[in-house]
Amino acid sequence: MDLFEKIQVSASYIKERISNTPQIGMVLGSGLGGLMDIIKVDKEIPYSDIPFFPVTTVKGHGGSLVTGTLHDKPIVMMTGRFHYYEGYSMEQVTFPIRVMKALGAHTLIISNAAGGMNPAFKIGDFMIIKDHVNLFPEHPLRGPNDERVGVRFPDMSEPYDNQLIQKAQKIAHDEGIDIHTGVYAGLQGPTFETKAEYKMLHTIGCDAVGMSTVPEVIVALHGGMRVFAASVITDMALTDHVERITHEQVLAASEAAAPKFAAFVAQLIAEL
Ligand code: HPA
Repeated sequence: MDLFEKIQVSASYIKERISNTPQIGMVLGSGLGGLMDIIKVDKEIPYSDIPFFPVTTVKGHGGSLVTGTLHDKPIVMMTGRFHYYEGYSMEQVTFPIRVMKALGAHTLIISNAAGGMNPAFKIGDFMIIKDHVNLFPEHPLRGPNDERVGVRFPDMSEPYDNQLIQKAQKIAHDEGIDIHTGVYAGLQGPTFETKAEYKMLHTIGCDAVGMSTVPEVIVALHGGMRVFAASVITDMALTDHVERITHEQVLAASEAAAPKFAAFVAQLIAEL
């Protein structure tokens, strides 16, 4: 079965079980499950039940697809995502995004936990992603292109929708939330960066770094979706000072920020 057919089978399985047409797809990063408290859940479908969906393995990441409404907007949300470092292929990492699009979602809202390299940032701050540097070793669109899914050579001049960025900036300003707008470096992990790597990433213009998001964003754009992405800064790595860091610290920092982050994203969705 080719990719297009797998997407259809997967989407049909979900469509038969849900009662509305999702317009917004959401992917939450490590520990950022706070939105679950705000969503009016219609269905929660374990990934393991959905044809062709991979299943998650990492602590702190859930494993189901949730549909329902958020401020009356029909949404489909992943609780937990598939990371390349877990060993999934790029097709597996990005497959749920394809399915969200096939379900009807025209907008993707995606978040992650990231290390901050911009000295103006501090732990717990949010960063709206305005651009990225793709440093993954493999491209999610490598291979034969299916024109039914998207074009061969997608434009990347404005990967993150400017209108959504402006809306989000205004919300943050109105709510008194510390927010930055910057460039995200996407790397495969699973090691955190060395001092020399953080320095290089900052030197080439990146403000935050993480191990996700870029493949999903590329596939969303390939499928014609509009994208909004934001990072929660969970640790700081400055050129002259890089501290030791653990996954537990990253989770703790993102969990601490989760309620505020959830409120921020919910407000953005309310205004879509
Ligand atoms: N580097 C890479 N990924 C991350 C980091 C980091 O510093 N923090 C959270 N995810």
